[in-house]
Amino acid sequence: MPIVEPTRENIKKAAKLLKAGELIAFPTETVYGLGANVFNEKAVARIFELKKRPHFDPLIVHVADVSMAEEISHFDERARILASHFWPGPLTLVLPKKKAVPDIVTSGLPSVALRMPAHEVALALIKECGFPLAAPSANPFGQLSPTRAEHVLSYFGDELFILDGGECQVGLESTILDLTEKEPLLLRPGGVPVEALREVLGDIKIRKKASKPKAPGQLKSHYAPRTPLKIWRKCLKLEGKRVGFLAFTRAPEGKYEVVRVLSPSGDLREAAANLFKYLHELDKMGLDLILAEPVPEKGLGLAIMDRLRKAEAAFN
Ligand code: TXA
Ligand code: MG
Repeated sequence: MPIVEPTRENIKKAAKLLKAGELIAFPTETVYGLGANVFNEKAVARIFELKKRPHFDPLIVHVADVSMAEEISHFDERARILASHFWPGPLTLVLPKKKAVPDIVTSGLPSVALRMPAHEVALALIKECGFPLAAPSANPFGQLSPTRAEHVLSYFGDELFILDGGECQVGLESTILDLTEKEPLLLRPGGVPVEALREVLGDIKIRKKASKPKAPGQLKSHYAPRTPLKIWRKCLKLEGKRVGFLAFTRAPEGKYEVVRVLSPSGDLREAAANLFKYLHELDKMGLDLILAEPVPEKGLGLAIMDRLRKAEAAFN
């Protein structure tokens, strides 16, 4: 089963597989997901197995609308307001869970992470299933997230049914906001800038370091290419190395094997959308090092720098 076009018929086929307890890969606006029926514990266990993901790392549950979210979580007023602003979209809300959600999905936590993706294929698929989909990013644990169907294919081979929704438009995982306490807490920067959340909610705390990895991207190293990556700074010794440069707005001076520019116009949205795609490309070139230029840490830049730091930390 290779990559397939997201026709009505293929979406039905995918739903049938999910109903039978199989996993499938599907597109969202952020990254591709590896989905299972949230209520099927065996299927969810298979996600952890296939991704080689530690069981303390809970999954995000994808819903087609707010009422589906209400069936499995205690969806409070703040959640309702945020959903009305940002759903469908790259915002994941962590809320107290209802009993129906199996512990394996939440790694035993009393909360569940929920989002409604802004991708018509994902929404059509969830509606066709009639149940929410537990779905982490469709990559082996710790590796670069997939923003194209081909990335998923290269990770898992053609035994997986992969719905091709084209290139992910946001290209970075969702922002994760914990609403289980009085004060909203940002667990992972992502596709919705924290500034936009503050405009709606007021103050939001940003969790810098987790004592235990309550959120995924909370691990110090993650999202890593196989090629070592460093964030550019003065005085790095590069002699004799084959280096690829991931620039923000323009090609650097100096001799590099290959250069990719995230956004010539300095648009952080465009840079975010290109980040994983270019990292996948550079990673395939057999370089000794990927050097990534820092981007301004505002808007989506916060999430971009988060991913770059975690990729760098994988080699420290
Ligand atoms: O954009 C996205 O969010 C993508 C697409 C497929 O929707 N999904 C994604 O999933 O990035 P994943 O598994 O790579 O990251 C999910 C993260 C986990 O690392 C976990 O830490 C956090 O969400 N998470 C899930 N449930 C949680 C909970 N109950 N409390 C705190 N964090 C939770
Ligand atoms: Mg992931």
